[in-house]
Amino acid sequence: MKAVVYNGPFDVQVKDVPDAKIERPTDVLVKITATNICGSDLHMYEGRTNMEAGRILGHENMGEVIEAGKAVDRIKVGDMVCLPFNIGCGFCANCERGLTGYCLTVNPGSAGGAYGFAGMGPYSGGQAELLRVPYADFNCLVLPPDAQEKENDYVMLSDIFPTGYHATELAGVKPGDTVVIYGAGPVGLMAALSAQLRGASQVMVVDTHKDRLALAEQLGATAIDDTEGHGAERVLELTNGQGADCGCECVGYQCCNMHGKEVPNLTMNNLVKTVKATGGIGVVGVFLPEDPSAKDALAKHGQIAFDMGKFWFKGQRIATGQANVKAYNRKLCNLIQAGKAKPSQIVSHEMRLEQAPEAYKSFDARSAGWTKIVLRPGK
Ligand SMILES: NC(=O)c1ccc[n+]([C@@H]2O[C@H](COP(=O)([O-])OP(=O)(O)OC[C@H]3O[C@@H](n4cnc5c(N)ncnc54)[C@H](O)[C@@H]3O)[C@@H](O)[C@H]2O)c1
Ligand SMILES: [Zn+2]
Ligand SMILES: [Zn+2]
Repeated sequence: MKAVVYNGPFDVQVKDVPDAKIERPTDVLVKITATNICGSDLHMYEGRTNMEAGRILGHENMGEVIEAGKAVDRIKVGDMVCLPFNIGCGFCANCERGLTGYCLTVNPGSAGGAYGFAGMGPYSGGQAELLRVPYADFNCLVLPPDAQEKENDYVMLSDIFPTGYHATELAGVKPGDTVVIYGAGPVGLMAALSAQLRGASQVMVVDTHKDRLALAEQLGATAIDDTEGHGAERVLELTNGQGADCGCECVGYQCCNMHGKEVPNLTMNNLVKTVKATGGIGVVGVFLPEDPSAKDALAKHGQIAFDMGKFWFKGQRIATGQANVKAYNRKLCNLIQAGKAKPSQIVSHEMRLEQAPEAYKSFDARSAGWTKIVLRPGK
């Protein structure tokens, strides 16, 4: 089969590799019809993780089941399924509580496994023609009959729509709340959509990229252009100097200042500054325990200079981490089917698998107009 293989920093290649296959009786094999490139792939692409060369990327996957292992009960050949990027077992102490992003079974010695991901187990990614799906009865979300027609919407259930929603859940967004979101990448935009769905009275999205900010506006948010570095002040102006009720971090450890220079504590301290006293902060942007390539001395060890005093004084709350996709994907799927959410509106490019190298390059450069890429193996 053809697959997108990580060769090393800034180097991905579409290669012929051995076909993915059923390895355990609880697996299914999926023929991938849509697979996205994610901001998380870019941390790997840039060589800023411990991703091993030779591995297949891709954790935002959907497709058709073409084979089912002997112990698979619910999922049938022919089902159109969307796969949560996190792989859960369904029976460990964390999966039982709905915390499938922290499954204790699938990546022994750690908590949480995923397809094609640094540090999240040996699982191959789905930027490929075929994908092996472990614990298929638990992991597969079987899609409604309009799966093909709304493919670009449903594929977002694999990660960014639930992740954006998770950011608002961690931040505690309630009807009538004002919400500030740092980052207008795909995740920040999905957080903006989710905040609207939860009934926020005002959603402010901060970024420097005008194309992404324009999409935030299309989603009904107030776009805050941080090109001059005054974004945080603008949020305070819009909230009578108090800050927003809730805030979401949708950028992560490679966050930059207005000059494009990495300043790893910038978004977290801006959140402390621009969320009101007692407000909630949800952090879904990735922060890593080690980042040897960071320029910043603290960041090399996964640390930031955090405004702890201000945070404590304001009595704020922070919640963090990977989205437990399965906790949300079924309900978000219903919203798509009912026409009440259209996450595909951020898709800028649909490309063939063979075009992955140029797609990675342009998305990594955050080139104007490259907001979300769907790869279509077999097309
Ligand atoms: N927690 C999870 O489960 C989960 C899931 C998916 C993605 N992620 C992470 O979420 C983050 C965002 O993903 P994405 O796909 O949207 O990535 P992306 O890189 O495309 O978007 C990030 C955006 O943040 C902007 N940005 C950079 N510095 C900023 C700053 N100081 N203030 C405001 N905006 C700033 C960039 O201009 C860019 O538009 C990444 O770290 C990704 O790994 C986490
Ligand atoms: Zn992703
Ligand atoms: Zn589990």
